[in-house]
Amino acid sequence: MMKFQGSHILSVSQFDRESVSRILDVAKAMIPYASRQKRCTVLEGAILNNLFFEPSTRTRVSFGTAFQLLGGFVHETVGQESSSLSKGESLFDTARVISGYSDVIAMRHPEMHSVAEFSKGSSVPVINGGDGANEHPTQALLDLFTIQAEMARFGKGIDDLNIVLMGDLKHGRTVHSLSRLLSLYNNVNITLLAPNELQMPDSVISTLSNAGHNITVTDEMAGNLQSDVVYQTRIQQERFASVEDADKYRGHFSLNKSVYEQYCKDHTVIMHPLPRDSRPEANELDVDLNDNQNLAIFRQAQNGVLVRMALFALTLGVDEKLSQFEKDVTWFTTK
Ligand code: CP
Repeated sequence: MMKFQGSHILSVSQFDRESVSRILDVAKAMIPYASRQKRCTVLEGAILNNLFFEPSTRTRVSFGTAFQLLGGFVHETVGQESSSLSKGESLFDTARVISGYSDVIAMRHPEMHSVAEFSKGSSVPVINGGDGANEHPTQALLDLFTIQAEMARFGKGIDDLNIVLMGDLKHGRTVHSLSRLLSLYNNVNITLLAPNELQMPDSVISTLSNAGHNITVTDEMAGNLQSDVVYQTRIQQERFASVEDADKYRGHFSLNKSVYEQYCKDHTVIMHPLPRDSRPEANELDVDLNDNQNLAIFRQAQNGVLVRMALFALTLGVDEKLSQFEKDVTWFTTK
């Protein structure tokens, strides 16, 4: 198992199966704190600097929420224009300075490998909140946590899973990271459903293939959605040369009630890293599925808090001390 304390979390390739299992177990131990049955102050006095140089709702806010749920203090920087990166300061210098103000840093940046470059200048653990089209390791961990939780309802695990990854698999960093994590498990049947131009990069397909998984590469929905999980992704407009280029692919793989009833199994779990594009012209993951009990997208987003709490506890070396810092919740809560 990897040594978590003091480590940067930059890529899922850092993890073996035992390390992933440890993260998911610690995430589960966070449920009483995230659901307000108890509170935990194990990180009281610690400082998270949350640096988000690309738009985010879930990742940024859930990193902050996770840290505060463990008693820590959060400082936010949002947008390159509000940072001296816009004056030409390097990622290395920025890291040297900000890490002097922090116990841990979470960072999102639009360029591939930028978070790893930043981490070289940091004296504290850096957690990758997404680096361009490269990776989104904390999303992949929360996706895996969600798959494990959803499959448990049917007495299944991640081994022997049937999953469809669908949409913009070329630019979608979440599906790159999730595929690499799935390669740690056994006998996964994985269908890669995308327009040919937006198929999964060869390097990711090789990783899945080397793991011995059964891979189907297709651009045909009919007959290919009979799976345990369908994981839909958004057309990553920001990674295309123009909006017109992105528009060419909208609606190719729209998942709505009619498609679900026609092609999926009764219990197929629907996942999406979010944000989904809910504009009518997007034709992506339709709101007419909102009442479907197997739509796991909001449970998935909620699980992000648990997984990020676990990563803070592990990298800061307090994962064995949670119960020592447990307290009662004194306010009214609906959770
Ligand atoms: N899934 C995800 O990364 O969402 P945000 O871009 O809102 O953080």
